[in-house]
Amino acid sequence: MNVFKLFQMEWMWTDIFSHPLWALSTLVLGLVVRSQRRGPWDPRACRVELKGKTAIVTGANTGIGKCVALDFARRGARVILACRNEARGSAAMLEIRQRSGNRDVHLRLVDTSSLASVREFAEGILREETQLHILVNNAGASGLKREITPDQLEVSFATNHVGPFLLTTLLLDLMKRSAPARIVNVSSTNHWRGKVDFSHFRGNNLTYTMDSIYNHTKLHNVICTNELARRLQGTGVTANSLHPGVVMTEVMRHYSWLIRFLFNLVGIFFFKSPEEGAVSTIYCAVSEEAEGITGKYFDSDCSLVLPAPLARDPALALKDYEFCERLTAKL
Ligand SMILES: NC(=O)c1ccc[n+]([C@@H]2O[C@H](COP(=O)([O-])OP(=O)(O)OC[C@H]3O[C@@H](n4cnc5c(N)ncnc54)[C@H](OP(=O)(O)O)[C@@H]3O)[C@@H](O)[C@H]2O)c1
Repeated sequence: MNVFKLFQMEWMWTDIFSHPLWALSTLVLGLVVRSQRRGPWDPRACRVELKGKTAIVTGANTGIGKCVALDFARRGARVILACRNEARGSAAMLEIRQRSGNRDVHLRLVDTSSLASVREFAEGILREETQLHILVNNAGASGLKREITPDQLEVSFATNHVGPFLLTTLLLDLMKRSAPARIVNVSSTNHWRGKVDFSHFRGNNLTYTMDSIYNHTKLHNVICTNELARRLQGTGVTANSLHPGVVMTEVMRHYSWLIRFLFNLVGIFFFKSPEEGAVSTIYCAVSEEAEGITGKYFDSDCSLVLPAPLARDPALALKDYEFCERLTAKL
């Protein structure tokens, strides 16, 4: 084909996507976005020490929870890793001890989807600990298949909301005695897509598409945190919820390999590392800036932002909180 003929060929605008320069420029853009991605608050620049303080982090054997627990250990806290799997929990405990040089890091077992397990865990804490300054309800799961637990609860609701709700309730008096103390509930921006329907808790009227159930549970996290904060006014115990960002952890483990592959592929360039994803939780738990702030919702860059309208309705929050109280009192 001569040059004249080549110029006569028809070009479609979509041909640009098959040009090698397109792939190269996308890669460069991705790397630039990645390098610019740090939030404004840097835990390494925060000099707050936690010597003499006790902290519990649920789901601390991997992902965001492990990074949060490591940060607390480096600040000198007595850290209790609340995990459900002994082998994974022990491995994390040894790693955190080794990386922080802090030997006051301990593993206690809890499965947040089981109210009996939560009660047993809390009884152990109340027996062994004389104080508790930080409680991070981080354990959570997305994409779980439909299942009703022995407590007659839908499993995502039990894991992400009812278990952590009961745990917090059982540890409240200890935290009040230890004040100032902070409760940090790891929610998600997905709560904006959640709905409130109290029949969901028993597994009724739910549609299992992608992360829809997870979204409902994360909305309840924010709503109940706000009501808890109202109830804790004047006690010296604060309660806030947050979105950690979109973070490259094991959070997609319950989805199909295709969704996991796409998540990880996009994530290499655009999502946060677990260390970066831990920042807003650490900010709420230890920073001087967050001292005294309660009943608020923080974004992944540690900014105070408004949660979804349903999470701003105090009447609904009271109803939700009382519903969860009745649910956990019975079981
Ligand atoms: N990653 C994100 O993009 C993202 C975005 C928004 C919010 N979040 C929230 O951030 C929190 C931490 O998630 P992650 O991203 O770090 O996920 P991850 O890597 O999957 O870690 C989740 C942790 O929760 C624990 N866990 C799950 N179910 C449990 C149960 N029934 N009892 C006790 N522990 C349980 C897991 O323990 P095992 O290892 O034993 O399963 C693990 O330690 C979750 O609440 C999640 O909803 C994450």
